[in-house]
Amino acid sequence: MATLPIYTYGTPVLRQKAKPVDRLSNQLVKLIIDMFETMHSAQGIGLAATQIGSLHRVLVIDVSGVEGMEDAKPLTIINPEVLSQAGAWSMEEGCLSIPDVRDEIERPESICLRYKDTNFRDVEVEFDGLLARVILHEIDHLDGILFIDRLPADRKKLHTDALKQIQRGEMEVQYSVVTSADVPVSG
Ligand code: CO
Repeated sequence: MATLPIYTYGTPVLRQKAKPVDRLSNQLVKLIIDMFETMHSAQGIGLAATQIGSLHRVLVIDVSGVEGMEDAKPLTIINPEVLSQAGAWSMEEGCLSIPDVRDEIERPESICLRYKDTNFRDVEVEFDGLLARVILHEIDHLDGILFIDRLPADRKKLHTDALKQIQRGEMEVQYSVVTSADVPVSG
């Protein structure tokens, strides 16, 4: 098992679209194990493969550390597809890739999700509340979308300085990161 560095705001990979997985290779199983390790050591409740620089449509989620969610099982979600959604609610979100930036985001209350599980079998499951929110946040990552993109422009503007600091690698985090200062930008 390995804890991997998390790519932060400004790194190009976070803006790329991840590709569907066609089989559960040993490499992918290792990736999933490392993603759980990385998420847990950073005290996150969800992580998309994009955030560790891997463009596979894979998410890991574990909300069991959240008050009231102690019974929630860890989830591995491969090739997720939202079949339907209902309702709307707002909650403050954060992101391991955007340390110390938090804001209220509106998302659907419940979703019906089709995905492949760790046996690479298709399943369809309904999620609501926090789990639906975390899943949608992580699916956004697979499409190169960050939660701050969902804020109105005037609201996003309030985070400009914080975002610039992250891009310069000037942040204090308790986990290892890759910043845009570490990654050569072409063009
Ligand atoms: Co995130």
